[in-house]
Amino acid sequence: MKEFQVKRTHYCGVLNSKNIGQKVVMAGWVHSRRDHGGVVFVDLRDREGLVQIVFKPEFAELFAQAEKLHSEYVVEITGTVQKRPSGTENPKLPTGEVEIEAQTLEILNTSETLPFEISEFSNVGEEMRLKYRYLDLRRPQLRENIIFRTKLAQAARKHLSTEGFLEVETPFLTKSTPEGSRDFLVPSRLTPGTFYALPQSPQLFKQLLMVSGFDKYFQIVRCFRDEDLRADRQPEFTQIDIEMSFVEIDDIIAMTEKLISGMLKDGAGLDIKTPFPRMSYEEAITRYGSDKPDLRFGLEIVNISPVLENTKFKVFADTLANKGVVCGLCIKDDREKFSRQKLESLKEVVAPFGAKGLAWIRVTPTGFDSPIAKFLSPEELNGIKEKFNAGPDTIIFFVADKKKVVYPSLGCLRNYFGKELNLIDKKILSFHWVVDFPLLEWADEEKRWVSMHHPFTRPAIKDLSELDALASQSTTPDSHTSPVMAHAYDIIFNGSELGGGSLRIHKKDLQEKIFQLLKISDQEITDRFGFLIEALKFGAPPHGGIALGFDRFVALLQGEDSIRDVIAFPKTQKGNCPLTNAPDTVLPKQLKELYIKSLYAEKENISK
Ligand code: AMO
Ligand code: AMP
Repeated sequence: MKEFQVKRTHYCGVLNSKNIGQKVVMAGWVHSRRDHGGVVFVDLRDREGLVQIVFKPEFAELFAQAEKLHSEYVVEITGTVQKRPSGTENPKLPTGEVEIEAQTLEILNTSETLPFEISEFSNVGEEMRLKYRYLDLRRPQLRENIIFRTKLAQAARKHLSTEGFLEVETPFLTKSTPEGSRDFLVPSRLTPGTFYALPQSPQLFKQLLMVSGFDKYFQIVRCFRDEDLRADRQPEFTQIDIEMSFVEIDDIIAMTEKLISGMLKDGAGLDIKTPFPRMSYEEAITRYGSDKPDLRFGLEIVNISPVLENTKFKVFADTLANKGVVCGLCIKDDREKFSRQKLESLKEVVAPFGAKGLAWIRVTPTGFDSPIAKFLSPEELNGIKEKFNAGPDTIIFFVADKKKVVYPSLGCLRNYFGKELNLIDKKILSFHWVVDFPLLEWADEEKRWVSMHHPFTRPAIKDLSELDALASQSTTPDSHTSPVMAHAYDIIFNGSELGGGSLRIHKKDLQEKIFQLLKISDQEITDRFGFLIEALKFGAPPHGGIALGFDRFVALLQGEDSIRDVIAFPKTQKGNCPLTNAPDTVLPKQLKELYIKSLYAEKENISK
């Protein structure tokens, strides 16, 4: 067998009528072979696509070799590009106007029958796909996702470098930084009994780089978070991480908008209008029930509490007496879709958010149809109808409870209707900012404030004493979010949180005060963040930044529901890699070196 020498002239998928008459050398995989009336056709595939190769019986030796080809054999072919005979063109294929008449064929490797077909529509379970991910990645859709991801990353790198950002790497073996998840830990052999944490983000290092004076930093960087996984969450994922000194929020927002429009233009050929709209957190919650509202459709939440001030309906009256609200959504009625039984079942959509019920009123051409109509006065029913500007053939849904239950419940119901009623125009690219976040939210169980972003976020205060009242709070406050706001912002893309950031605290006393307010003990401050506090003593400049979830960005642009489809080697929902079988047990010798004994192995009596 000959040693393979790369002398390929073209990728398969790029040939077209302009190449007619050219002699070409191609290398790739046999996608399919068809024998037709004494002629053998092979679709040859590489990362750019397919091209048809023709083997004619006149060349007996070559023809006999072609007849031996099977799917996924790796071959090198020389031949001449020809126009396909009239009527045999394939308009579905970019190379469909041409074919290659083969002159030589070299089989570089054979292949066993694959565990599943490389067909776009093949219905293979995810576990199987991930076990043979290298084959799965031969599928056109995944291949395109990975190539698109590369282009988008290159566009980001080019744009940020042109704008004067320095690409600086930060450690993976480091100390825990609080982004709100669990850390992945790595035991140290050289210092037994101690652990590194894999970074949940490079947050503290990028701040330290500002203290060093690097001024404009970026990194396309892996982050590690041990959290419960969902379609848009992986235990390791990639951020485009950015930090700048001497900036205000408007500078970071403008820089991000330029980056995103530059990436879309260079990476995807898409034009997007900037600046993106901004809305406050308060507005996002009260109008859309979410801090990441999907603005591709309307369907806004309406507060009907004023209409119900004197209501006799106990559920609503009690709610209002307890400083709660009654809010709702109004949709167009569709009797085929919304049987009475279906309407009742919709309470399951809001139940996970703590809603105790989902009341509904059907507005008909002749009046109202609702299980609660009998509890409401005609004035109240008409008042509700007016509040929603509801015409006949509409249905109004309500939740009555504390704000922190009502808004997320209706936000989820709103997204449910968005999908169910096809309200979303999939062609729209909807970017917007959510700004003016509260600095803190109240953690009921722990009876303390926790950061809404992270503890390094600069509060919107003029004087440290504005934090005193919060610091002494020990009982559940009326509002679960703090009256003190943060200099923080999130960017939302089609209803997903694409990224978030903030201006940071660059003064030592303010940072210490925030840690104290979060009820982090002095000892813990020193142990966990001593190095940051120390750095803030030595001329830390005012700074701020942002991180964009790169996997999410690629997935949303490619129309994928899960970020797993844009990551070459992702983990399953349970955090496993069926390909390598990670995470796995290790040799007793390895554990011994680390002075580690597995309680789990002891419990399960695993001897390995
Ligand atoms: P944050 O925690 O908001 O901010 O993360 C920024 C963005 O990263 C993406 N993301 C994820 N993507 C996939 N899988 C995950 N498990 C996952 N977790 C987060 C989201 C999110 O918007 N250090 C701060 C940023 C800063 O303040 O500059 C940070 O990490 O798209
Ligand atoms: P009940 O009196 O519990 O049978 O409730 C009467 C109606 O009010 C039912 O349709 C419930 O779904 C609805 N309901 C009960 N509690 C709430 C609530 N907190 N918010 C909205 N609707 C509710």
